[in-house]
Amino acid sequence: MTNKNRVTFGSKLGVVFATVGSAVGLGNIWRFPYMVGENGGAAFLLVYIACILALGLPVMLTEFFIGRNTQRNAAGAFKSLAPNSTWSIIGYNGVLAAFLILGFYAVVSGWTLEYIIQAVTGSLSGKSTTEFADDFANFSSDIYRPIFWTIAFIALTHFIIVSGVKKGIERASKIMMPMLFLILVILCIRSVMLPNAGKGLIFLFKPDFSKISSSVILSAMGQAFFSLSIGMGCLITYSSYFSKTTNLQRTAVEVTILDTLVALLAGIMIFPAVFSFNIEPTEGARLVFITLPNVFGQMFLGEIWSSIFFLLLAVAALTSTISLHEVATAYLLEEHKMSRKKAATLVSVGALILGVISSLSIGVWKEHTILGLTFFDFLDYITAKIMLPFGGMLICIFIGRRIDKKILKAELTNQGTITFSLFNIYAFFMKYIAPVGIGLIFLHELGIINWLKSIF
Ligand code: PFF
Repeated sequence: MTNKNRVTFGSKLGVVFATVGSAVGLGNIWRFPYMVGENGGAAFLLVYIACILALGLPVMLTEFFIGRNTQRNAAGAFKSLAPNSTWSIIGYNGVLAAFLILGFYAVVSGWTLEYIIQAVTGSLSGKSTTEFADDFANFSSDIYRPIFWTIAFIALTHFIIVSGVKKGIERASKIMMPMLFLILVILCIRSVMLPNAGKGLIFLFKPDFSKISSSVILSAMGQAFFSLSIGMGCLITYSSYFSKTTNLQRTAVEVTILDTLVALLAGIMIFPAVFSFNIEPTEGARLVFITLPNVFGQMFLGEIWSSIFFLLLAVAALTSTISLHEVATAYLLEEHKMSRKKAATLVSVGALILGVISSLSIGVWKEHTILGLTFFDFLDYITAKIMLPFGGMLICIFIGRRIDKKILKAELTNQGTITFSLFNIYAFFMKYIAPVGIGLIFLHELGIINWLKSIF
């Protein structure tokens, strides 16, 4: 099915950059290090990489197939492929997940704006490790400042979304991504030269296998889905704008490699510094924000480096919030026949409400919890650890059961014009390994496997 009036990405490079722009973001630089820190270091990294290869890459390629083949949004795509069935639930799960992620992601994105201002005004220099930690605690639990930045970030995203798919997204991601990569490399070099840096590298790269537990595996799987922007139709939506000549296989491999590389660089940048400055790796969501200012403090012209870094981090976050926003906007626009402006406004207002509640839940509303989690942590938990892997599992089952292998192969080889020598392996992973693997991890985490064992 083709739709001639649809916007497509401008250039080959634009496709990869926009998709990398969605994948690379706070998930790599903020969430990945804190997950590694909370889940025992190298053991987590190992499971994470296994999840990327066995689950992430095949699911990403499949999302590309669904998006480009149908040229529709996350929910509409399933309506095209399986009319009058309940499979479109996968799309709705994705649209909802995108919206919920936006609700806490925008808050952390807002923090990056605060840190740009602090870096530029010199407030990030000349302090002790404890002072940096206290400053962050005071700021993030404040009522007004984080909300102000959250609103500013959503407004920025909104502006880019209403200005159109092609111009907005492409322009933003093409210039800043390579710059971010470069500055990460520089920060890694600085970090590994700090005293005691070796301990951080051992923590990150020398696995202690006794640390692997079902919750570590669930966290690694969730992080893989979150970081690659998969399981929720984001890449279905993006690939619906790809041209018919885009090489889907190569794009999937490139995006996966770049995304994993950025996460690894973030780990190499953070952990040597964590050990050097005696910070606990288990600090959680604030880990990056209290570690990095210490590294900048040790650098020549630290204010300048920190200003550039937080600016680029904000841009990386922006290219991800754009993609999250676009999932929900494209759905409303195409399925509910709204104008782009109206659809985007609805999404932005909704995200704003979630964002304000998430931000307050770190400070004054800390005591109000859902299943023992603050609202912010709850949104993070149900999206990354439940909705995205669940969506991924359903996508695999859907493809295995509903889609003719010939159609799948034709799309992934651009109608036979490029080869796909690993097609059978890919199809096997999609049909069996990925859905069974994800299912088992869920069952284990929910305690069902142990319960069965105790019965038999
Ligand atoms: N992958 C993004 C990151 O790592 O920051 C976050 C994200 C964007 C998740 C888009 C999901 C998504 F659809």
